Amino acid sequence: MNIKDSVALVTGGNRGLGKSLVQALLAAGARKVYVGSRKLTESSDTRIHPLKLDVTSEQDVAAAVAACPDVNILINNAGVASSVSFLAPTSLQGARVEMETNYFGMLRIVQAFAPVLKRNGGGMIVNILSNVSWFTSPALATYSATKAAAFSLTEGIRIELKSQGTRVAGVYAGFIDTDLTAQIDAPKVSPDVVAANTIKGILEDQEDIFADPGSRGVKAALDNDRQAFYRAIQQRWDAAH
Ligand SMILES: NC(=O)c1ccc[n+]([C@@H]2O[C@H](COP(=O)([O-])OP(=O)(O)OC[C@H]3O[C@@H](n4cnc5c(N)ncnc54)[C@H](OP(=O)(O)O)[C@@H]3O)[C@@H](O)[C@H]2O)c1
Repeated sequence: MNIKDSVALVTGGNRGLGKSLVQALLAAGARKVYVGSRKLTESSDTRIHPLKLDVTSEQDVAAAVAACPDVNILINNAGVASSVSFLAPTSLQGARVEMETNYFGMLRIVQAFAPVLKRNGGGMIVNILSNVSWFTSPALATYSATKAAAFSLTEGIRIELKSQGTRVAGVYAGFIDTDLTAQIDAPKVSPDVVAANTIKGILEDQEDIFADPGSRGVKAALDNDRQAFYRAIQQRWDAAH
């Protein structure tokens, strides 16, 4: 997919990975980037078009469709994580917010923008997923469930949207150094690296974009021996609890 002169929409584009994606799209030649965010941001860059867009709001999404008729690259990046296990006392509450944002929000945006992409020649949908789309991290359990649901959504809409010429990609990474992982003490990749690899994946029409140095290895390990992968997770969990 060509990025030069394209018009992109990035949800949750005001900070973290979304902000890096906006800059990377512009550096790759995007003509216009709509930056969706819950609170309107300002920019002196005339290529940036701030857009009030809470992905859990039907009203905001309908208004965004009306305001962005020229989009041909949609990046579903908005996401939240409550970073708890399934049996944590607050898990249900957090799970609902996560599911509403990471899964239902993505579904709502895809449904709303599929006709826009069709009118603009097909274009591309890029869903920011995670390595935990493939397995459950017990410490990030409710979040993992939403990313697995978003993975399923990604695979399904690829089939449904093929006939209208819309390409669909999933982006996979482990920990990225953003506010989302501020409480997590683990090696993290820079959001700029993930954004750069995402841009490369878009340009190369990749369906599975392995956007950090570790994600391809994680996928290979799971494909090779899922039970061994989970045995290692169990050992770490048992040692910590
Ligand atoms: N960080 C990681 O380790 C990691 C790894 C793999 C995948 N991801 C995924 O990468 C994406 C970006 O996360 P990040 O790491 O950049 O986190 P972040 O720094 O916390 O940024 C999250 C972004 O999502 C926005 N957002 C949250 N709820 C929203 C809603 N209802 N409507 C619209 N925007 C909303 C936030 O907006 P506000 O400023 O209004 O809160 C913010 O712009 C997420 O989908 C996340 O799951 C992250």
